[in-house]
Amino acid sequence: MGTLSFFDLTWTWSPWLLWVAASATVASAIGRSVYLLYFHPAAKFPGPKLAAISYIPYCYHWIRGRYPWFQEQVLREYGHVVRVGPNELVFFTPQAATDIYGASVKHQEVFLKTDLMDFGAGDLGFIWESDPAKRKAVAKKILPAFSSKATKEKEPLVHAYLDLFVRRMKEVGGRPEGLPMNDWLLWLAIDMAADLAYGRELTHLKDGKTSDFVETIRGTSFVGTLVQLSKRVTIIGLLAPVFVPLRVMRSIPAVFKANKAEVQARIDKRGKTKHPDFMDYMISPEDPPPASKKELTHIEQVAFQMFIAGFDPVQITFYAVLFFLLKSPKARAILTEEIRSAFESYEDITPEALARLKYLNAFIHETLRVHLTTPTGMPRLSPGAVVDGVYVPKGIVVQLSSFTAMRHERYFADPLEFRPERWLPADHALYDTRYANDNLKAFFPFSLGPRQCTGREIAWSQTRLFLAKVLWTFELEGVRGHDKSFDDDFSVHVMWNRPELYVRFVPR
Ligand code: HEM
Repeated sequence: MGTLSFFDLTWTWSPWLLWVAASATVASAIGRSVYLLYFHPAAKFPGPKLAAISYIPYCYHWIRGRYPWFQEQVLREYGHVVRVGPNELVFFTPQAATDIYGASVKHQEVFLKTDLMDFGAGDLGFIWESDPAKRKAVAKKILPAFSSKATKEKEPLVHAYLDLFVRRMKEVGGRPEGLPMNDWLLWLAIDMAADLAYGRELTHLKDGKTSDFVETIRGTSFVGTLVQLSKRVTIIGLLAPVFVPLRVMRSIPAVFKANKAEVQARIDKRGKTKHPDFMDYMISPEDPPPASKKELTHIEQVAFQMFIAGFDPVQITFYAVLFFLLKSPKARAILTEEIRSAFESYEDITPEALARLKYLNAFIHETLRVHLTTPTGMPRLSPGAVVDGVYVPKGIVVQLSSFTAMRHERYFADPLEFRPERWLPADHALYDTRYANDNLKAFFPFSLGPRQCTGREIAWSQTRLFLAKVLWTFELEGVRGHDKSFDDDFSVHVMWNRPELYVRFVPR
């Protein structure tokens, strides 16, 4: 009888080894599921069982682009708090919003930001900074950039970009086939935000064409979602590169290099810039250049975040106001009349004068209510605290579905209808008592508390000016896209995926 070789042994034992490995895996999965279902600190919260033991529903709905709708559905099914992942809860009431985002000690948040927006740059800048002490240090520099005085100083630049948009629409917007708003509004918002953030002059609007920069931003929306999901399910991160479009993959290094060079150029130009921008507050004319790579990376991050925060919600809002204008001819007629009768000439249109127009403000409020801009749920880590009447143990991730709140019949009559009237004061001719009991406290498009949007004032001013200048100058005609439904045809990853909206701009 011959002796058994190593390979014979492996062959003989491998079914056993496989069996042992498979049994151990199953036992560990069962053990983990039992722990998550019955012993985990989040075990007491209701929700789908699959969501309690895995991130499968969470990832699935994010990948489909329907995460806000998923949150809404489970909150309707299970109540005011739902476990949407093993360690993750979602709330939706105004009380929950106040408890999570409003809680503060010495003006610093108590529920800290998670690592959701940490894409590995080595610095979290300002908006994505989760350490309150570090954030406070940046806030000291950058917050004055959002004061009313500083916002006023930036107004001429906002006018300049919106006037350029109006001019371009006069030149090319009258075509019978209309213009695709996904492109044109993105170009407008990107050009304006880059200049406001760090004096970077882009010419998409002027040239009427896209660039590698724009396509990189667009092309990484889905991948950004995968990277965020990989923080819960590591393996998803391995798939992310596969979904980067080839054109974007090729251009990413050059785009990031060019952006760094632009920030460096802005630093070198300090004290000699054409107009005020957010960077004035990060590095003033008297400041020496950044002393280290770390300091430079920090400034680059803040500049980039000011750009992202300044363009994405703005382009979403510009698209949304046009979409609802075209969908609602009655509202369009009322708004157009209000704007045209308020000003003798185009040049008279100013943010201060617009702030007094009741229907305009109602129209923008209603747009921000029905079209969510920030889909992430704004996750925060519980410090161990009561939220909406229930104790949430330390370390559990909590978030708010403002989407659910802003579309809930508990707070708004006809919640899925676009009704600017609900925001009108009782003495307005179009005031409708049907909306008298709407609970406006359930409206938080800019979040609340210490980490709420610091760009609210400039965002309002930009949106009022955009609508007023466009409606003063043009009759708008929807060619196609405006017949689509927000609930059926929109979805969201890092950016919103929207139907193409073709609009004709006919000078009046
Ligand atoms: C309609 C437009 C806008 C909407 C709906 C909006 C909404 C929001 C929301 C919901 C947050 C909180 C995000 C979170 O906690 O994760 C936020 C934060 C922020 N937004 Fe806006 N935003 C808008 C426009 C702007 C503009 C034009 C700027 C100017 C750069 C800006 C600057 C910021 C900054 C700096 C923060 C972070 C504040 C902090 O962390 O302390 N936003 N925004």
